[in-house]
Amino acid sequence: MTKGLLCLVRKMSTRLFEESDHANVYKKFRPLHPQSMAEFIVSFCKRQVSLDRHELLPLAVDVGCGSGQSSQMFAPYFQNVIGLDVSSAQIKEANTANGNNNVEFLVGSAESLPVENQTVSLLLCAQSFHWLDQEKFYKEVDRVLMPGGCLAVFAHHFNEFEQPSLNRIAREFAFETLKDYWDERRRTVDNGYRDIVLPYEDNERRDDFQSITKTSLLDYLGYLSSLSSYRKFMKEHPDEPILKNIEQQFLNEMAASSSSEVTLTVIRRYFLLICSKPK
Ligand SMILES: C[S@@+](CC[C@H](N)C(=O)[O-])C[C@H]1O[C@@H](n2cnc3c(N)ncnc32)[C@H](O)[C@@H]1O
Repeated sequence: MTKGLLCLVRKMSTRLFEESDHANVYKKFRPLHPQSMAEFIVSFCKRQVSLDRHELLPLAVDVGCGSGQSSQMFAPYFQNVIGLDVSSAQIKEANTANGNNNVEFLVGSAESLPVENQTVSLLLCAQSFHWLDQEKFYKEVDRVLMPGGCLAVFAHHFNEFEQPSLNRIAREFAFETLKDYWDERRRTVDNGYRDIVLPYEDNERRDDFQSITKTSLLDYLGYLSSLSSYRKFMKEHPDEPILKNIEQQFLNEMAASSSSEVTLTVIRRYFLLICSKPK
């Protein structure tokens, strides 16, 4: 096992299930979402409220913001952004990394949003919609959105690589080794959110956004370690070296000896649903 991975595994086997440890792994390894998708969401919102290209929209609320990457992406387009998460550990990480003075992070829940009626121009759920109580959340959506305000929900499919052999290794890890450890609610993600019915008639679906990132194998293993299914697996099998095994498979496939020296091109394909409240 390489030195970096050994540190990661050691740290995880002792502190794996403390909330703050998970939040820290999230902050380090979760990818940034495509900028082009953020720009599409903003232009969809602006169309609804007839603002021109350079005017800032009033308020965005990023629901289930995690360690805050998704909230920061929208800071340049809004007067104010609130990132909201039920986990105080995630909010602590988000606050530590906050470089924008128009972005505020709060502990709170999607089902009881801490904002006034009809004040929000964008409600965003980045990789979080499937974790919410959708019925209660939709009531809140209708309460807080201003007329013409938008709800955008997006997530991505399990990542791909350019090389089919690497795809096979990663898919075997996610869908064979971890098969029984995914939460029921993840099914809707595997289904590309096709079963989700948006609350407003003016809506659109996009499947053409993707991110392509270069990352070291070590960081990719860090990303795998942030998966909820992996964390559940390790809770039940703390001594199973499944991360080490997949590392070795990647190293063999790429004829390399160190995971910090191997660079991977990781492709993530997104699906986005967006709608706007009638004016
Ligand atoms: C997969 S993470 C997504 C984080 C981030 N938005 C991103 O794009 O990477 C899902 C987040 O939703 C939060 N969450 C789950 N249920 C929630 C709820 N009912 N209200 C608010 N946040 C919730 C979790 O704590 C977690 O941080």
